[in-house]
Amino acid sequence: MSSVCVENVWKSYGRQTVLERISFTVEQKSFIALVGPSGCGKSTFLRMLLGDEAPSKGRILIDGEPLMAEPSPDRGVVFQKYSVFPHLTCLQNVMLGLELAAAPRLGILLGRRRREAKDISRAMLGNVGLGAAENKYPSELSGGMQQRLAIAQALVKKPKLLLLDEPFGALDPGIRAGVHETLLELWHETGMTVFMVTHDLSEAFKLGTRVIAFDRRHTRPEEMEAYGATITFDLPVYHPVPKPPEIIPVFAEELDEKAVRYKAAV
Ligand SMILES: Nc1ncnc2c1ncn2[C@@H]1O[C@H](COP(=O)(O)OP(=O)(O)OP(=O)(O)O)[C@@H](O)[C@H]1O
Ligand SMILES: [Mg+2]
Repeated sequence: MSSVCVENVWKSYGRQTVLERISFTVEQKSFIALVGPSGCGKSTFLRMLLGDEAPSKGRILIDGEPLMAEPSPDRGVVFQKYSVFPHLTCLQNVMLGLELAAAPRLGILLGRRRREAKDISRAMLGNVGLGAAENKYPSELSGGMQQRLAIAQALVKKPKLLLLDEPFGALDPGIRAGVHETLLELWHETGMTVFMVTHDLSEAFKLGTRVIAFDRRHTRPEEMEAYGATITFDLPVYHPVPKPPEIIPVFAEELDEKAVRYKAAV
């Protein structure tokens, strides 16, 4: 539900320019798929949206306000590498997000609110196919399962802005399609704004309402330090709304005939 305005953002590490001249505005409830070759600065850009890194130049506004560096429950994130807590079970990992949002100091909920948080977390684990693993620790899960746990942990909080850094890379195709569905359902239900980095163009066009590509325009070795990647294309994606079921004319005629017969009978 957040709008994002990126104004002439540059990012350098030392003498290395990574990103340059990045400007675009994203309306709330957009689903932005961010693509580009390895090393072009996609993860760096997400870290700036998260407030984990500051732009070297330019600024980012969220809902018209300059981005706050502190973590906020309004911003959820799934990193390229698994980011779950190893000492908590799957259920505890997912519940923790809800507990910290509701009771930021202690991170503990009691009574009815705790039971509600447990039910919501169990349902979310079921959505990502981890219903049977709720009492397992991350070390007992495969890489793809850990990644699904990280997705459940981010989605359960229904953030206004969801940042996903190649979240589905480790998932097999069947599970990936299921998690896509869960994500789209939650996106429709909550109206959150999503930024998703992916290397898979078909995934970008399937899920995104807009696909933005970062790439370098200057690739000669002597230019690599001075020039960073920038936006090389920005495409809106049209998702046709499914048609309502057609009314079968024969059926309508039959109804009319029945009505005529009924009229004739009375
Ligand atoms: N903390 C850092 N210090 C120095 N250089 C960094 C730092 N973080 C990223 N970089 C450099 O910035 C560039 C972009 O890195 P980034 O991780 O954003 O790329 P990416 O597009 O996400 O790549 P991939 O698709 O492989 O994940 C790389 O050259 C990387 O070495
Ligand atoms: Mg990356």
